[in-house]
Parts: sequence; structure tokens; C-alpha cells
Amino acid sequence: MNTLQSKKILLIISGGIAAYKSLELIRLLKKAGAGVRCILTQGGAKFITPLSVSALSGEQTHTDLWSLKDETEMGHIRLSRESDLIVVAPASASFIAKMAFGLADDLGTAALLAADKPVLVAPAMNHMMWNHPATQENIGTLMRRGVKTAGPCAGDMACGETGIGRMAEPEEILTSIRAHFERAKKLSGLRALVTSGPTFEPIDPVRFIGNRSSGKQGHAIAAALASCGADVTLVSGPTALPDPASVKTIHVETADEMISACRAAAPADIAICAAAVADWKPAQTQKKKIKKDKNAPPTLTLTENPDILSALAQPGPRRPRLVIGFAAETENILESAHAKRMKKKCDWIVANNVGTKEKIFGSDGNHVHLITASGQMEWRGSKKDIADRLVLEIMDHFKNLKLSEAAE
Ligand code: CTP
Repeated sequence: MNTLQSKKILLIISGGIAAYKSLELIRLLKKAGAGVRCILTQGGAKFITPLSVSALSGEQTHTDLWSLKDETEMGHIRLSRESDLIVVAPASASFIAKMAFGLADDLGTAALLAADKPVLVAPAMNHMMWNHPATQENIGTLMRRGVKTAGPCAGDMACGETGIGRMAEPEEILTSIRAHFERAKKLSGLRALVTSGPTFEPIDPVRFIGNRSSGKQGHAIAAALASCGADVTLVSGPTALPDPASVKTIHVETADEMISACRAAAPADIAICAAAVADWKPAQTQKKKIKKDKNAPPTLTLTENPDILSALAQPGPRRPRLVIGFAAETENILESAHAKRMKKKCDWIVANNVGTKEKIFGSDGNHVHLITASGQMEWRGSKKDIADRLVLEIMDHFKNLKLSEAAE
């Protein structure tokens, strides 16, 4: 079956010479069976006309946030809500900056800000603009929010210079759009539970025991699972991160709250424990702030927290079919991680070296080993890359499970 048949695409065409290629993209999308609605920004309309866009899309072209007719008939909210995917092609440097900052001063940006749908951008700009730290930061912000990109590519530019910044060809953007919809189905029907971030164990109303976990890896995994169609519940300790799109996020503080939220979210097919759960909590939380005693500092009596990963991995009818743990190690990484996998009874374990705090905690990069019963793999990359690699392995695992179930 054609992946694009009956899919609804909202195409936002921003200002850039590459806008002429978007006409071909509309033609290809229509040919593939998709419905295409278009927003042409003021800048976009300097390069192509609403008439040519409408002629190819077969729909009215929307241009004005302040048009009474447009707003009463369609409205920027409906435009984004009634689509399956929003594509911005070309995405100019200025349009990308507006997206990153959450501006909504024209129809395109307002529709995006009101959107609860996946977004794919095809950047197009001069290579210096693309490489500028401002643009790189903005595109990084969008990617962390789950926005997908197609291109840009290297080559000759309209301005006569050469470098990275050309918009991807319409066929390539179409391939990325297809890949999005194909990926979006791979884990559909599966429920996933992910823990992320640190836990804070209160000593008194103002002090707590915590750790340096940023939650970036766990949140990236939850987002990657959701983008492949899984029904994801993320149980997160305190982090500074936004909730990932299309993920049910439950915010907790302590390990006890985290395990209760995980139990409430069960049953799940996949459980991934990426949280850095505090191993111990104060045996008693003081209701009032502990005052400084002139004679001696207070003594803290600690008690052990429940082990969420071990609890989820216990054999039984409610055990998820795939349980994945993390092993934060500072020495004998692989050996310790192997031992942790056996001890905690999880199927896979992702081992990382947290010995050098600058390298892992809070950073966007990671270096991990995935250890399974049958072997191990080593991955380096951004936390998002690691999440994507892990989700690819999960897809393979469930594909193989299905094949062996079918063979029985
Ligand atoms: N974990 C958990 N609940 C806990 C402690 C850890 O779910 N109370 C999970 C983590 O989410 C991770 C795995 O167990 O997936 C390993 O965590 P780690 O901190 O590396 O191991 P610990 O069990 O704390 O063992 P140790 O401190 O001895 O290395």
C-alpha cells in the first residue's frame, strides 16, 4: 500500500529562491496520493504566486494570518490540526529562527505554534547563513524538539557561491516524507514505558539528595519511540526539559513516586529505565527546615530506595516483553554492565562511562555499549542518535519476535 495515500500534508513555503522547487514537491505529493494544503509566506510569494500553488495543489493557498475570510473558513489552528505532517520547504534562516523562538507573527509560524503534529523542515539558504552559529543553534533547538530535517545539500547556490545550504531536491524531500510515515507505523500497537531524569529525595522542605542526570537521553528515547508509533508513557524526575511531543509525560520527584507511576502505567510491551534513580533516601523527611545546630552538623540516616528496573524485570505475566536498563559506570564498564544485566534480570543494558562528568552529564553527546544476551554493540553520537539506534534495535527485536511467533 502506498504510504502517502490519503495523507494530509500542510506545506509551508517560506521565502527563498528554492520556493520554485516546492511546486514540484506539491506535484510529487499529489501524484503519490497525498492531499496538500499550502501556506505561502510573504517572502515565499516574492518567488512564486498563490495561483501556481493553488493550481498544483487543487486547494486554496493560504497567505494571510489577518484574513477574515481565511480565518473564518479555515483558521490557522484547523490548518495545522487537520494535517498528518507539516512540511516547511524551503525553510529560510529567518523562518527557522522564528520557529526556534516560538514567534507567531504570520500564518505559517502561527500554524506551527498551534500544531500538535510532526514537522519536517527542508532548510535552504546561503552556506554562510547555514553555518552561522545562530542558525546552527536554532536548528539544534528544533531537532531537540523532535523536528525532522531533509537536507540541506552541498552544491552551487543561486548567489554564485558553493557550500552546504541548497534545499534538498523535491524527490529527496518526498523520500524523507515517506520515511516519516513508514517509520511512524513500525512500533504502532506497542506500549512503552520510559523512566528519565534524576530523582530528588527530600531531607527537609528545602534540601534533597539528587544527582546530575539531565534526562536528555531518556527523553530522547521516549521521543524516538513515539515517532515510530509506540504508545509511550514517560515517567520523569525533575529536569529542565520540555515534555516530548506525542508522549504521555508523568512528572515525579522521588523514587517512590517513580515506581508508583511505573506500576500505574503497566502493562507495557517495552520498559526502558534510563532514570538515574537515587539509590538511597533519608529514612525520615523532616517537616520543617533543619536549623543549624551550633554544636554539631545533623546526622542523616539513609534507607534504600526501591529498584524500579529490577521490579519491572521480575518474571511474571505482567513483565514487559523487552526490559532495558542503563548502567552508569566509572570503571570496568563492560564487566560491571554485564553483571548488572544478570543481577537486575533485564534483557538488554546500555552501559555508559560517567567517569568524566563533563563528557556525559548534561551534554548532548554520549558513548555507549548496548549489551544483549547475544552480543554487544558500541555507539557514539548525540543522545538523539543513540536513541534512534536503540529504537532501530527494538524494531528489529519485535520484527524477529513476530516472525518467530508466526512460524510457531
Ligand atoms: N535503577 C532503578 N532503580 C533504582 C536504581 C537504579 O530503576 N533504585 C535503574 C536505572 O534506571 C538503570 C539501572 O537501574 O537502568 C542501573 O542503574 P545504576 O545507577 O547504574 O546502578 P545501581 O543499581 O545504582 O548500582 P550501582 O550504584 O551499584 O552501580
